[in-house]
Amino acid sequence: MKLDYTNMLSTALDGRGIREADIDGLAARFGEVHEDVERRRASGEYGFFGLPYERDTIAEIRKFAEGVGQSFDTIVVLGIGGSALGTLALQQALKPPHWNELTDEQRDYFPRLYVLDNIDPTTIGPFLDRIDLSRTLFNVVSKSGATAETMAQYLIVRERLQQQFDTDGLRGHLLFTTDPQKGVLREIATAENIASLPVPPNVGGRFSVLSAVGLLPAALIGIDVDRLLAGAAAMDERCRNGDLRNNPAGMFAALQFLAHTRAGANIHVMMPYSDRLYLTADWFRQLWAESLGKRKSRDGRDVFTGPTPVKALGATDQHSQVQLYIEGPFDKTIAFLTPAAVGLDVPIPAIHSELPSVSYLGGHTLGELIDAERIATADALARSGRMNMTIELPRIDEHAIGQLMMMLEIATVYAGGFYDVDPLDQPGVELAKQLTYGLMGRAGYAAPEITTASRRILE
Ligand code: PA5
Repeated sequence: MKLDYTNMLSTALDGRGIREADIDGLAARFGEVHEDVERRRASGEYGFFGLPYERDTIAEIRKFAEGVGQSFDTIVVLGIGGSALGTLALQQALKPPHWNELTDEQRDYFPRLYVLDNIDPTTIGPFLDRIDLSRTLFNVVSKSGATAETMAQYLIVRERLQQQFDTDGLRGHLLFTTDPQKGVLREIATAENIASLPVPPNVGGRFSVLSAVGLLPAALIGIDVDRLLAGAAAMDERCRNGDLRNNPAGMFAALQFLAHTRAGANIHVMMPYSDRLYLTADWFRQLWAESLGKRKSRDGRDVFTGPTPVKALGATDQHSQVQLYIEGPFDKTIAFLTPAAVGLDVPIPAIHSELPSVSYLGGHTLGELIDAERIATADALARSGRMNMTIELPRIDEHAIGQLMMMLEIATVYAGGFYDVDPLDQPGVELAKQLTYGLMGRAGYAAPEITTASRRILE
């Protein structure tokens, strides 16, 4: 994996952007941040670091995925946020496009995989009407075992299963991924002997893709989870280095932090030039937003900090967003994501030789065109003084995706160190969760007080 940050530097941006001296200036601070992260890792606080090495859970996952799991045609993940986005990213990156529309043979007889994520009734109702429950496994994923959206999905699914199966039959269609001890899902799993996998207590939702949360669904559809974890472990090794300029996660975090705090770029766009990496950008958006968007610093000061992550897609968003990126406010960094080799390419036929405005495309490939568009966009941004960098994966496969995800997770905790916030908590999300419980009548939770008189509505 390569991180090309030439276009983040003032030398490429006619004075705008980051100076080499700023990076050198942050290197000493990085030494402290790195040490602090290593300390929190050793104490068990940053549990995600250990996930590539959890041999027992990995063996359990593979056993289920390769055994019982293959008796289903369809896997449905019930989960939201960190319990859904990583799985979606893995499926899109590592399985052929339109996986669920392929025939059994085209899927090598691996099951289809749907991740519900949202609770829009107009999606969920028709979806559940359409699937064959007798051929479906529902993987209920919730670290806390209490999230309203996931529990509502579970109750709806459970009622449908109860209408069709006896208690034994019902049990065979459920698998819970949740905290090993706490939460309602764990209670139900224990009371009813429902199959379950643990989410380590010290691994937060948005850092859980390489736990059973993402690995079980991935293994069920034939993703090589060992290679994924080997990639993550390789990146972990690489990032044990306290020298900023030799630590890719450190450099990514430092560049984004400097761009924000020294060069006014509080919007961090991640823009893959590959359909297969678009949901990886979506996964990263949650990681960066929930981890860094904080009111309080670690020592309790009001800081109201955090960059705003945005996702975009090349080349599509060249015709939607790039005008703003090139000529709008100097408030963004663009991180391009690209595979060095597209893998599968499509030649562009040399037709219409009489029309020079079209014929120049002939003889090239779509891979060459999308690459040219990325290079040209990066250059146009740089010529306009806009900071951008490129993360190049050798190819899109399990090893590279494992490296990338681990790199971005490590970068997130380093960035937490630079911003001096706790990257693991999410008090804002918790507050909204509790107010929802109140609105839905959960005992012990108060609903927000919004009186009719205080509402301003234009109809
Ligand atoms: O990162 C987080 O902790 C959150 O985004 C959670 O993943 C999300 O709220 C879902 O929580 P849970 O897995 O407990 O249902």
